[in-house]
Amino acid sequence: MKFFMPAKLYSEHNCVAEHSRELSSLGRKALIVTGKSSSKKNGSLDDVISAISDHGTEYILFDEVEENPSVETVMKARDAGVEGVADFVIGVGGGSAIDAAKGAALMIANSDKGWEYMYNSTGGKHLPLAAVPTTCGTGSEVTGVSVITRHDLKTKVSLKHRIFPALALSDGKYLLSAPRTLIINTAIDAFSHLIESGVNINADRSSMMLVMTGLSLWNECRPYIEGCEDIDEKAALSLMDASTFGGMAIAQTGTTIPHALSYMLTYNAGIPHGPAVGAFQANYLRFADKDLRDRLLGAAGFADGDSLEEFMKRLAPINPERKLLEMSAESVLAKPEKLAVCPYKLDRETVFRIANI
Ligand SMILES: [Fe+2]
Repeated sequence: MKFFMPAKLYSEHNCVAEHSRELSSLGRKALIVTGKSSSKKNGSLDDVISAISDHGTEYILFDEVEENPSVETVMKARDAGVEGVADFVIGVGGGSAIDAAKGAALMIANSDKGWEYMYNSTGGKHLPLAAVPTTCGTGSEVTGVSVITRHDLKTKVSLKHRIFPALALSDGKYLLSAPRTLIINTAIDAFSHLIESGVNINADRSSMMLVMTGLSLWNECRPYIEGCEDIDEKAALSLMDASTFGGMAIAQTGTTIPHALSYMLTYNAGIPHGPAVGAFQANYLRFADKDLRDRLLGAAGFADGDSLEEFMKRLAPINPERKLLEMSAESVLAKPEKLAVCPYKLDRETVFRIANI
């Protein structure tokens, strides 16, 4: 068994203000990396700015992160940080903002390198990083993974470096103003992380503890995900915790086939990440060991794979062209390192069946 998760995590009401001293102690001048609008609407950006300002810490704001941020955006954030002499980075928002912040933290610390350094090297030093998540899916606040869009390859690609935040501050109140679709999509991403970590060659006792706890918590939140009940702050924090458990789980095991299949769908057809990974979960589970499959589905409150498939089709339907699915399946088949993470035998036919072809 192994376990590595070096981020210090606080998941509680008002945690940004409560732990402002720890946040400020990461450096003297922060580069705050966020999106164009949601962190301004949900109050997280104001909270971060006042938390660090209270301790005399300066900041530069980079608020140009788009959904599925590109290499170009990371390099723009890098330039802002280098120009302003930032010595730590705070990512505020969903996975896009936090992943871009990770890239910026790496590239500011390696400002003599070109963008290729993100992909051509491993183990690079990076600036200290804090993450304030505002959605319930990415888990990026507790992983070392950053997935950035490569326009040259027309897909999203994980950086080779592991860039863990030193501090993660998760507060359910930021989720309350999120559109329902965003809550559904990100909750499906969290579910997918938990399933892919569970059905994974790297799964062990510690990662399975996170998976089972995360799925149970996710199941408790089903009424809010399905829109049967209005979300309140307690439920929002539970959803964010389920996402954080998913993040901690994939930090141990990595994701597997559904995530690998999804990236081309997101790039080429604009399908949001959650629905793009959720669509393959039922098929991915169908080929898994029966006892494991039953345990995972049971923890998440699904009677069987068919009810999971029905859930995904009802809440997050996708309809990609067959040609795109074939391209995605071919790209996965060309990545032996991805295939190796799956605990069951993956031949061409099985990958195509998981891809709904
Ligand atoms: Fe994901």
